[in-house]
Amino acid sequence: MRSRSGVSRRELLRAAAVAGLGGLAAAACGPLFTAPAPTATSTTGFREPPVRASGNGLLDISLEARETTATIAGRAAVAYTYEGTMPGPTLRLRPGDRVRIRLVNRLGEPTNLHFHGLHVPPTGSADNPFVEVQPGEAFQYDFALPRDHPAGTFWYHPHVHGRVADQVFRGLVGAIIVEGDLDQVPAVAAASERLLILKDTTLDAQGRVPPPNMMDLMAGREGALVTVNGALGSRLELRPGEVQRWRLVNTSNARYYLLRLAGHRLLQIAGDGGPLPAPVSLETLLLPPAKRAEVLVQAAAPGSYGLAALPYDRGAMMGMMGGAASAEVRLLELVVGGDQLAGRLADNLPRVEDLSGDPVAARRQLVLSEAMGGPGGMVFMIDGRVFDHERVDIRSRLGTIEEWTVRNDADMDHTFHLHTNPFRVVATNGQTTAFRGWEDTVNIRAGESVTLRIRFRDFPGRTVYHCHILEHEDLGMMGVVEVT
Ligand code: C2O
Ligand code: CU
Ligand code: CU
Repeated sequence: MRSRSGVSRRELLRAAAVAGLGGLAAAACGPLFTAPAPTATSTTGFREPPVRASGNGLLDISLEARETTATIAGRAAVAYTYEGTMPGPTLRLRPGDRVRIRLVNRLGEPTNLHFHGLHVPPTGSADNPFVEVQPGEAFQYDFALPRDHPAGTFWYHPHVHGRVADQVFRGLVGAIIVEGDLDQVPAVAAASERLLILKDTTLDAQGRVPPPNMMDLMAGREGALVTVNGALGSRLELRPGEVQRWRLVNTSNARYYLLRLAGHRLLQIAGDGGPLPAPVSLETLLLPPAKRAEVLVQAAAPGSYGLAALPYDRGAMMGMMGGAASAEVRLLELVVGGDQLAGRLADNLPRVEDLSGDPVAARRQLVLSEAMGGPGGMVFMIDGRVFDHERVDIRSRLGTIEEWTVRNDADMDHTFHLHTNPFRVVATNGQTTAFRGWEDTVNIRAGESVTLRIRFRDFPGRTVYHCHILEHEDLGMMGVVEVT
């Protein structure tokens, strides 16, 4: 509740109420957090987005961003789409591929593409967050995926500062799959694969996305419709004993998914940046915004089991948001039936380097904070400053390892994300943590800190780090790192 800047979130809300905004926020918040309709009446088959796979070392496609009528949550929705669907096409790549994507902007506003989690150059026509593609124009992305790129689950979305939250909330997301060594692990290879893109949005009676209110901007927007691959209440059918590999991607602006599959445990085999050092058996799995996980699921006895997002309280504000933190949301149904299969669970995973013995060239402290001000009513800062694309906040040297301690001085969780180079978490609140694989997105609870070890390798240039609650990113919680 208390923030070191001396202003608590409740005080800010009280101030907003005094300013006449509280009523608006409260009124508009109620219906936004209504849970989706019961799944029993809206059961549909499980569907995944169309796939664009590379062949002979090349992926050469175009992605048209446009506003169109698409089916979302079983309704005709006016959404922003890539190639007419929400989520957009899944890109399937292999290490060493050349990737050519022509982004065609048919929106009425600038946009661009970010390849979240890929280790590719942050410059030129690669993963350059400073590119802006104007309405009616196109941009040719062209880059190579390194030969030693880890296998894993990544995603793409727009990254024009100030517009990210709105464009993503309206539907501009898609998954990227990089194939590789993880797929050769016998238990993983034997499992059938499913992609589950988690995304919430809100549609009004006309199927349009209503504009955000004050509360949406402060807390980060959560939608009333919580979809998997754009659908509500779909079912996955498995035989008892069958093992499936699920690739989970949180593409929501601000919603945290504390996942639990009734009657089952989730065996996590990969995180953001590829394989974990060893499989981890979980009762629940927390996916903050932008985070990915791969899990193996072994179907239990015949029956029907729900995959749910359990209540998760991400900060002081949540109690004032119409009980969002206390509502459980059903995502899909696992229907187990038929003859028993003898599926097998994970063997040893591919070896992952942990860089624990390597020297650290620099240690830095970063502080995330919030304050009142700006057109959104609040600003979100890193080291007391809002984002300025002209300013370089951190200068790092190519080929070195750094440790960043990122402290969350605010009242709610923030999700720290760095482009281009993954990190490993080495400590939480100063306490050493065991190696849990490479990540690009980490949740930091209010008042806590995480220490990250980053190796700046391969690619010089400027890129960004930011909170992946997209409203916070747009309202300033972002900085520039230049690697030379
Ligand atoms: Cu998915 Cu800069 O973020
Ligand atoms: Cu990113
Ligand atoms: Cu944030």
